[in-house]
Amino acid sequence: MSGSLAPSSLARLLGRWNPGAAPAYRELSDVVRLLVLDGRVPLDVALPSERSLSATLGISRTTVTAAYTALREQGFLSSGQGSRGRTCIPQPGPRGPGLTGAAGRAGSTGSGRSGLAGGSNLSGPPGLPVPDGLLDLAYASLPASGEVVHRAFAAALTELPALLPGFGYDALGVRPLREAIAARYTDNGVPTSPAQILVTSGAQHALNIVLRALASRADKVLVEHPSYPNALDAIRSAGCRPIPVSMPPAGRHPAESWDLDAMEATLRQQRPALAYVVPDFHNPTGRLMPDPQRRRLVRAAAASGTVLLVDETLRELNLDAVASTPLAAFSPAVVSIGSLSKSHWAGLRTGWIRAEESLITRFAAARTIMDLGGPVVEQLAAAHLVGALTEPLPARLGMLRENREVLMALLADHLPSWEAERPDGGLSVWCRLPSPASTAMAVIAPDFGLRLAAGPRFGIGGAFKYYLRVPFTLPPEELETAVLALRAAQDRLEAAPQLRRRPQALPVVAIA
Ligand SMILES: Cc1ncc(COP(=O)(O)O)c(C=O)c1O
Repeated sequence: MSGSLAPSSLARLLGRWNPGAAPAYRELSDVVRLLVLDGRVPLDVALPSERSLSATLGISRTTVTAAYTALREQGFLSSGQGSRGRTCIPQPGPRGPGLTGAAGRAGSTGSGRSGLAGGSNLSGPPGLPVPDGLLDLAYASLPASGEVVHRAFAAALTELPALLPGFGYDALGVRPLREAIAARYTDNGVPTSPAQILVTSGAQHALNIVLRALASRADKVLVEHPSYPNALDAIRSAGCRPIPVSMPPAGRHPAESWDLDAMEATLRQQRPALAYVVPDFHNPTGRLMPDPQRRRLVRAAAASGTVLLVDETLRELNLDAVASTPLAAFSPAVVSIGSLSKSHWAGLRTGWIRAEESLITRFAAARTIMDLGGPVVEQLAAAHLVGALTEPLPARLGMLRENREVLMALLADHLPSWEAERPDGGLSVWCRLPSPASTAMAVIAPDFGLRLAAGPRFGIGGAFKYYLRVPFTLPPEELETAVLALRAAQDRLEAAPQLRRRPQALPVVAIA
């Protein structure tokens, strides 16, 4: 689009833009930036001249000049010589999107993280590395348990020659890894043979394979609400209809962590093809489904002819060592998916599906449409990691336990108006905010040195505007920096309610 914006049109869009909480030029540039981000000011239009805008708004020309300069630095206004600047969005630079502007100087201004600096790192295609200088609260993930992973790869390399004469294609996965995963299920009370395991490139891949094999377009898929954003996206992009069942609010009795009455009624009335659930340290709430609820869920799914698809990605992150029975122990019809991403490292890209043998054959056929198998060395290494799970896990759990306490205390101290639900396990705390500011918070977060996933990403139809997931995967000192930055962002939104106008599109942020 090209064209220009009349001063009166921009004035109308700006509304009450200057409550006086910050210098006027900054308030003006903040609101224009938000208007560009949420699409109310289109891209590639010329903003009014400084003279005409200052006259229309009744402010000094210096203020408009400074606001336009800030927008240029942040990458929201082109800097054509002699012509009026046109709206644009920051382009990735060599160090990540737009860090050359004021955002790159955040923290060096003396005002530190409370200053609204750049704003150029807002979004990017999922999977892009986190721009330098931002604390990442969108990924709930940990670095590798390094030493153990190294050793596993060293062992894998010594085993590789024996496999080199083969073709290297294996849609089910290499035998030693399938044996190790099956043994782990068996040890956990779910007798499993290697033929019941299909190795995948992570749990997300596993979910897509199951959807491709078992769901058709327009099929209903029961989901918890909130749920894991990438699973919701996968379900929608398979053409299926997610049917949300709300999780009870925080503060419920632990025996009622899930609303089983609602789940049973939905299964009975809607008869969904699949039910996707995360009973083990549910993402984002961190809840653990108690055994009696597990039993009821399996029974209700069987009665409605629904395939229960259980995501066990977070199962090992059992911070309080509470015993629970894997859902597959209650019925052979359950399909379970798992991953090494949270117990060891997401960079391994190793996950699996456990199901009845006949289903595994269907999954293998569905898989070969997407890929022909996983890389062999990674799988050999993963076999060692699965077999020796006890080694890295206690240290990892100890660290996470401490981080959980640190984060809960920081939230209570600095954000007392937030209701933070203490998670049973997993990697994050699901917080209810005092106002529906989650998306605006995610939009301005990069200015405070943070990358955030907005609450509505975890739901359907714009729900969870009041919610934010805060991982406790960063070290304590970075958690403190992050919470102080969240507090500063909240203060900024309270002082400048115009920033809270609901953006039309959620920021595109990769989430794990
Ligand atoms: C519930 C859940 N399922 C699946 C995944 C994706 O796991 P993977 O990295 O194995 O694809 C995640 C990652 O955060 C998750 O939390």
